[in-house]
Amino acid sequence: MNLKEQVGKKAVEFIKEGMVVGLGTGSTVYYFIHELAKKIKEGLNVELVSTSVQSINLAKSLGLEVKDIEEVSCIDISVDGVDEIDKNFNAIKGGGAALFREKIVADISNHVVWIYDEKKDVEKIGAFDLPVEILPFAYNHTIKKMEDLHLNPKLRHKEGKILVTDNSNYIVDLALGEGFNIEEVKKKLSTIVGVVEDGLFINMCKHCIKGTEQGAIIIENHNYKRK
Ligand code: A5P
Repeated sequence: MNLKEQVGKKAVEFIKEGMVVGLGTGSTVYYFIHELAKKIKEGLNVELVSTSVQSINLAKSLGLEVKDIEEVSCIDISVDGVDEIDKNFNAIKGGGAALFREKIVADISNHVVWIYDEKKDVEKIGAFDLPVEILPFAYNHTIKKMEDLHLNPKLRHKEGKILVTDNSNYIVDLALGEGFNIEEVKKKLSTIVGVVEDGLFINMCKHCIKGTEQGAIIIENHNYKRK
């Protein structure tokens, strides 16, 4: 079993009867959704919401119903992947361009679980470029502001065209380097009008499940405080 499959399956142990479950996005969550679909077919009764069109389509292809986020009054638990995470539970997300919905879903979830293979576990985040969702309106000006603030932006493309998110926005990837100053970058981004959301997920999860060759490890974040 590969490590992504290992943690995706393990995460289903957190899902209990009657819960509203937020489905994350990505190649690790892919296994979680598959395993959850099995449990639902065996009789588990849960309601699902999603962080992306990709995950809605996957869930639907497995015969699951996915509710619109406005149809649920709360989210009991959400399970998502990360691109990088440090030991203080600071993570970079958005490699799959779903960071905005992922952040909203994480923010309103009572319990957030991140699943990843051990390669995502880093001493300091930043080797992975930080994705930032921006409005298409005046995007070149937004990118120029980022350049002026030394954030090393690069507009993301897919198949030769500008990548468009599920929210009809664009993604800019910031090459900040390992160990960048998180507070400073957040402050700089907050001054740029066209920025919708960034892929910095600071201390937002209660549990992590890390995939290792020795098996899946559940890590509790004791500093996590629900807002
Ligand atoms: C989607 O935008 C991302 O935040 C993903 O959750 C993250 O990139 C993890 O994806 P993988 O599980 O595919 O590595």
